[in-house]
Amino acid sequence: MSFPVKHDHATLNFPDEFLWGAATSAHQVEGNNIHSDWWEWEQKHQPEEKRSGVACDEYNRFEEDFDLLKSLNHNAHRLSIEWARIEPEEGKFDYSAIEHYKQVLEALKKRDIKIMLTLNHFSLPLWIAKKGGWENFRAPAYFERYVKTVVSEIKDQVDLWVTINEPEILVYMDYIEGSWPPQKKSSLAVLKANWNLTRAHKKAYKTIHKFIPGAKVGIAQNVQTYEAFHMHSPIEQLGVVFSDIFANHLFHFLTRGYHDFLGVNYYFHHRMECKNGLLPKLVDVTAFSKDVSDMGFEIYPPGIFKILMDLSDHLPIYITECGIATTNDDRRIRFLMQYLVEVHQAIRAGVDVRGFFYWSLLDNLEWEKGFEPEFGLIAVNRQTQERKVKPSALVYTDIIKYNGIRHELMKFLGHRIHADEVIDIPGLGEIK
Ligand code: BGC
Repeated sequence: MSFPVKHDHATLNFPDEFLWGAATSAHQVEGNNIHSDWWEWEQKHQPEEKRSGVACDEYNRFEEDFDLLKSLNHNAHRLSIEWARIEPEEGKFDYSAIEHYKQVLEALKKRDIKIMLTLNHFSLPLWIAKKGGWENFRAPAYFERYVKTVVSEIKDQVDLWVTINEPEILVYMDYIEGSWPPQKKSSLAVLKANWNLTRAHKKAYKTIHKFIPGAKVGIAQNVQTYEAFHMHSPIEQLGVVFSDIFANHLFHFLTRGYHDFLGVNYYFHHRMECKNGLLPKLVDVTAFSKDVSDMGFEIYPPGIFKILMDLSDHLPIYITECGIATTNDDRRIRFLMQYLVEVHQAIRAGVDVRGFFYWSLLDNLEWEKGFEPEFGLIAVNRQTQERKVKPSALVYTDIIKYNGIRHELMKFLGHRIHADEVIDIPGLGEIK
């Protein structure tokens, strides 16, 4: 793949064969994931409206959603399969669930959509959770057995494999912040889970390669950017260096040699402040009225450029997730374009970025926060399950069609939008 591929001053072109798509995860969209730790936790700790329930009923509606994403020009899709469905009881595999996923993957292939498949996206079979989940030193071996069973069945259908989604976020949410099951704040658990996740990834990597020698295997890592609140504070600068090492590089260092690509989930830009000579802490940016999403994440497009430049080495990079929670779809359009302009800049600077997966295809279950945060390109009516394509999805469709950002879209970016304004981008039709 080389850049630039076309000489077109009017469009910010992306490399040929660039993958364009959106991402989802099984528990967040499928519904009725009843053998998982999340399902049980939701029944015990969440009010009804925040439980996954039927979610987006994707288990039954995948054909219609794949028709939609195909009509939106997507040429790739990232999704996950659910371990708890495939192995609902220890060592007992449900081949009807595997058959279901074969059909799901086949449905994508029939539509000529490239597949990035995640084998574990946060949720676990309840039986493992009861044995200590990722803290259990046998968890990597259980994972290996599951991966072996799945890969031997579906090996030909997948283009890119993600073993584990965001191991470091999982550890943080489960054992440091403690807001996800098993809600256990413990430093020992942090060490054990981290160690077991690195072993699990390595075992899965080897297993997949055993079945498919040329497979492309990686993880989707939540990569975060940091900056010192006071540029001249050495303690804050040190905080930046250490946070970067722990959040962005440690897992890769411990699993070096076991990645065929880098999967980057980018959501977070942090500012670190050291008050009264104490250890630097993350600043609450909402207090400074920075541009933040409905999740309270700062919108910081240059961060993705920085991180791509930092990570650029010999491995290809896929943006495995990047998205905004907002009920204002004009903000999503602006977000999408601003971040893609930065990705384009990084490619121009020589970084081998091969694909972009917007998070998310659908408005879905945002874990413990329920269905309120709206990340989707497509809205889902919670009562009827009716899908409604948002204007941002059409802008994304336009970008995919031209494999780049047209001049007319760039003009939109420089244009101030008011809530009731009708925006007319030539060639795209009226979007509101
Ligand atoms: C996770 C998704 C989640 C998204 C938005 C990512 O960390 O992989 O499951 O919905 O962030 O918070």
